[in-house]
Amino acid sequence: MIDLKDVTVKYGTSTVLHEVSIAFKKGNFTVLLGASGAGKSTLLRSLNMMQPLNSGSLTVEGIGVLDDKKKLQIHRRHTGMIFQQHQLIGRQTVMQNILMGRLGYYSSFRTLFPLGRQDQVLALQSLDRVGLLHKAMSRVDQLSGGQQQRVGIARALVQQPKLILADEPVASLDPATADKVMTLLHYICKEDGISAVVSLHQVDLARRYADRIIGLAQGRIVCDVSPEQLTQEDVHALYRQTTLPQPGLPQPQTNKPSSFALHAVKET
Ligand SMILES: Nc1ncnc2c1ncn2[C@@H]1O[C@H](COP(=O)(O)OP(=O)(O)O)[C@@H](O)[C@H]1O
Ligand SMILES: [Mg+2]
Repeated sequence: MIDLKDVTVKYGTSTVLHEVSIAFKKGNFTVLLGASGAGKSTLLRSLNMMQPLNSGSLTVEGIGVLDDKKKLQIHRRHTGMIFQQHQLIGRQTVMQNILMGRLGYYSSFRTLFPLGRQDQVLALQSLDRVGLLHKAMSRVDQLSGGQQQRVGIARALVQQPKLILADEPVASLDPATADKVMTLLHYICKEDGISAVVSLHQVDLARRYADRIIGLAQGRIVCDVSPEQLTQEDVHALYRQTTLPQPGLPQPQTNKPSSFALHAVKET
């Protein structure tokens, strides 16, 4: 559904993505795996051109090559972003933050007025899906880290996205909360048929949730495999160390979370 071709990105004179080509498949939950500095964030930002490309192209199904502002705007409207630090406004309510996700649908003139009833219903529905309807009027800075990231997911959902780009969405959470947030994100993407590209540095989470793992090191793809195919050698190449960072963790199981796991999400 989105095709990255020979994309090179430089910061000044240093090249951080070297002619990267990836065809992302519709409905897939793709994990970009790699150590800090590998180029994961740069690659994710390239996928909605928040990061200008030095060369290469981006083609999106139903839109074509993103070579003008109009096409890019359409693409961005249907692309939800989730960030590590969730980028919410702490002193505003959960509802106000989520409604912000709708703004891309309107002209800048229209955004001077309060959003309509339909948008509010959509925001409440999104909030319900992440189990936080009861927090609609709470200030974001009164929520736990896990709850804040669930608000981040809800904000992406009000865009009714076809694609979600999530940059280390669980990196600031403790392992148990991280797992619950990943379960929720994965479940919603699968239920709605949303394609997802998620960067992670944790091998165990990548194995558990990914349909496809793309390993990045120093701005290059070093592996492109299913979770079952990810070898110890691949992991070594990604982290360039002799001891694995996450040994002895559970092997991938079914992609569909158990109802127990979903129940657990609500408790975060
Ligand atoms: N705005 C920037 N200016 C200069 N260098 C940058 C900038 N952002 C990232 N880099 C460098 O680009 C490389 C890739 O960074 P990044 O995409 O953030 O990797 P990751 O998300 O995998 O940690 C790193 O070497 C990083 O230091
Ligand atoms: Mg990063």
